Amino acid sequence: MAVETWEVKDKLKPRGLDGISDQQIDYHFNVHYKGYVTKLNEIWSKLPDVDLGKANQNYSDLREMKLEESFNYDGSMLHEYYFESLSKEHVEMPASVKEQIDKDFGGYDNFVKLFKAVGTAFRGWAHLIFDLNYGKLRIIGADIHSAGAIWNALMILPLDVYEHAYYTDYGAMRAPYLDAFMKNVNWKVVEKRLARAKRTYEAFKKE
Ligand SMILES: [Fe+2]
Repeated sequence: MAVETWEVKDKLKPRGLDGISDQQIDYHFNVHYKGYVTKLNEIWSKLPDVDLGKANQNYSDLREMKLEESFNYDGSMLHEYYFESLSKEHVEMPASVKEQIDKDFGGYDNFVKLFKAVGTAFRGWAHLIFDLNYGKLRIIGADIHSAGAIWNALMILPLDVYEHAYYTDYGAMRAPYLDAFMKNVNWKVVEKRLARAKRTYEAFKKE
């Protein structure tokens, strides 16, 4: 069986954002995102040769590789969603997104308040996800890429709050970065993801 590889998606790198510099994006994209992809590919190239007979929950090559496989897989995937979510175009929020946000959070201001507060309370991410179990948007906090998620949910908008996402521009201040992130959200991309999630929910619903 051929070894699987994850491709770096250079076309997703945003430029000219409002309040998030190209230098900040370059460090984030070239060092952090590509770092996750590189390590994921390294793990995938080594997994076929790992000794399954030595699997052990305290320490084993298989355990370490599977732990870091999840970390680097989610690091790769979440960063692609993050970069794809940002645009210099100041895209207006489509009516369908506004309607869902109003329904699930009681208005845009409430949504942003909670999103930024979760982005302040966690070490890695604030995620806007669509919960397929309930058919609604939720905000989830995560300390690392591969922990803190809920199952049966689709990613709608990931907000990266690791220091590596803002230190070049804002030093230790996270709040101005959270404001800058919200200014650059490409709501057209969010609309597409939400529409896909709602179609999936219709197919997923239990009888
Ligand atoms: Fe990041």
